[in-house]
Amino acid sequence: MAFLHIPKPWQIKENLVTSPSIYFNRRRFLKTALGAGIIASIAPLTGCQKSLAESTLEKTLNLAKIPGITPNPNWQNLDRPITSEILAGQYNNFYEFGGNKKIWLKAQNLPTENWRVEVTGLVKYPQTYDLDDLKAKFPLEERIYRFRCVEAWSMVLPWVGFPMVALLQAVEPDSRAKFVRFTSFYDPEITTGPGFHLGSLPWPYQESLRLEEMANELAFFAVGIYGHDLPKQHGAPIRMVIPWKYGFKGAKSIVKIEFLETQPPTYWNTLVPNEYDFEANVNPTKPHPRWSQATERFISNGPGLSWEVKETLPYNGYGEYVSYLYSV
Ligand code: MTE
Repeated sequence: MAFLHIPKPWQIKENLVTSPSIYFNRRRFLKTALGAGIIASIAPLTGCQKSLAESTLEKTLNLAKIPGITPNPNWQNLDRPITSEILAGQYNNFYEFGGNKKIWLKAQNLPTENWRVEVTGLVKYPQTYDLDDLKAKFPLEERIYRFRCVEAWSMVLPWVGFPMVALLQAVEPDSRAKFVRFTSFYDPEITTGPGFHLGSLPWPYQESLRLEEMANELAFFAVGIYGHDLPKQHGAPIRMVIPWKYGFKGAKSIVKIEFLETQPPTYWNTLVPNEYDFEANVNPTKPHPRWSQATERFISNGPGLSWEVKETLPYNGYGEYVSYLYSV
């Protein structure tokens, strides 16, 4: 099949580049996808197919309720409502399955059975956990967090999971460990997002935190959302949630966690370093090179995709908990 040509970042003209998804999606992916007939699988919410698509979407969200979740009272009420589940479940970024927000259907190809997460590197107790081990070992709680994408849209999401610091206590990083690298599932036979599998892209998707950031009380591993298991489009069965940073720092579908001495390369920072910095803290006063970060499009309730413009807060509103990490 004639496939998409993805230019190297330095070949992309500035005026053609919007956010990663908008750029790849609108300018290239849609055009080529139309020619290749791919569009049929990603545009199911239009026209007369609507009800079929909606019921299929609902099936992807209708997952086992997680028993015994304690709502964490410190992270419950916000100044804005929780985004509706049906909107959050059809407006995603998961480039392994395509450069379009509507990857929910393609993401159903993610094989989540017998999932293992390897924890390795500079730790006293390296471990390989399966999902049941993780859920049994770490008490699960619900936390309602703001979620701010670097593309200037936002949501409020009720995650279920456990704080990252609990994993740190279990594996005990040694004194040389300064950074932690998180690696997402990748199999070129399965994660076949159109346009995202040409040679030069730095797969697998990897993200990294400084050890002190991972130890912050807000840093979270989600194994669920809206009271049930994580849908595949949200990064099943386990993903990172770092609410004071832009959403791209939160790698989905994690298979490996490594404790390292030096800062590792990460996916978006390798691709476009001047646009996606390693730290990526939400900062309304620091514009992205191509758009302002002062406000955000807050997505809450449907029926269709609509948003309210809100001011973006420093550290996404979590400054009192995290600013100490960045004081010089
Ligand atoms: N993780 C992987 N493996 N692949 C991705 O493409 N996209 C990131 C992040 N984690 C991404 C990822 C980006 S840009 C965002 S905004 C969030 O996932 C989106 O999470 P959501 O789809 O659950 O809203």
